[in-house]
Amino acid sequence: MAIVETRNIKKYFGEVRAVDGVDLVSEEGEFLVLLGPSGCGKTTLLRIIAGLEQPTEGEVLIGGQVVNGLPPRARQIAMVFQSYALYPHMSVYDNIAFPLKAQGVAKESRREKVHWAAALLKIDQLLDRKPRQLSGGERQRVALSRALVREPALFLLDEPLSNLDAQLRATARDELQQFQASIGTTTLYVTHDQVEAMGMGHRIAVMDRGKVRQLATPREIYDEPADTFVATFLGSPPMNLLVRDDYLVGFRPEHLLPQGQTKGDGATASFSFQVGRVEYLGADRLLYGVFDGAFEDTKIVSRLPSTVTDPIQPGESYQFTVRQKDLKFFDRGPGLRMEPRDFSP
Ligand SMILES: Nc1ncnc2c1ncn2[C@@H]1O[C@H](COP(=O)(O)OP(=O)(O)O)[C@@H](O)[C@H]1O
Ligand SMILES: [Mg+2]
Repeated sequence: MAIVETRNIKKYFGEVRAVDGVDLVSEEGEFLVLLGPSGCGKTTLLRIIAGLEQPTEGEVLIGGQVVNGLPPRARQIAMVFQSYALYPHMSVYDNIAFPLKAQGVAKESRREKVHWAAALLKIDQLLDRKPRQLSGGERQRVALSRALVREPALFLLDEPLSNLDAQLRATARDELQQFQASIGTTTLYVTHDQVEAMGMGHRIAVMDRGKVRQLATPREIYDEPADTFVATFLGSPPMNLLVRDDYLVGFRPEHLLPQGQTKGDGATASFSFQVGRVEYLGADRLLYGVFDGAFEDTKIVSRLPSTVTDPIQPGESYQFTVRQKDLKFFDRGPGLRMEPRDFSP
């Protein structure tokens, strides 16, 4: 186990600032997720930590040691990519044993390790098969076993579930998280999928254009976003944002409720919500519309749980409220979070 740290990592490809000054410190045994849209620099950062790419600037530390000068194999890391790249002509057993063989580990101790890793990932009954005889989920577990036998100090996983279908992803997510908790190896997990990030991460680093916008627990990221990028990247549908003078005010769709449905005491902000479209999703309804008056150019979404049974008709206006404490304020320049203030529509 080890802590991984990056200090002001930059990677420029000509004009492209793929990674633009990233400072990160993991905790021991942490499952740390790098979340961000495609092209924001996640893979590049992971490859730099792995030693597959040299940074333009900055330092990588693993277990407190600067590893910039070390080749990948000396860094005690194991990396699993989106495409697992199993050797098609080799059995599962030989695929898992491959890195040990390359290291010159003796046959008997190779055998022990392969069985240990295969048992942990529950694929011991598949060791004689070839990759083409496996499901996507099983292949993914073979790739993880192959990474595991080297007993790395650090796991680097780059969108390892993205080739699986939706249902399998949910189980694979669960298995992967349990597996990581049981071995306790510090893990950096890259994804563009907020559901994966929220569900799996101890903490999430939200990245945008080569920079980390916020590093915090899933709950903090969702409830207390550091800026408008984080506020709108997380959440589906994203946070509503209204422009007022020199600032923005945001609130989550589930916090915009029919008057009388807002729970708890304290002040509320009240809006006349003109509903344009209603999407019935089973567990809840999404209402799309606009506020009458000053903000009518801004599209607004409300999420009503099915326990809220108020009849809502498209084309009608209703009084909706948001608790003052659920309003988040951002400046209009870089969109950074500001102190709360009194707001009335
Ligand atoms: N070898 C490379 N040469 C030039 N540009 C690259 C190279 N690798 C990545 N990039 C660019 O760097 C940016 C970040 O890429 P990447 O790290 O793959 O993002 P992500 O994994 O978040 O989708 C992208 O704009 C990408 O096109
Ligand atoms: Mg990538």
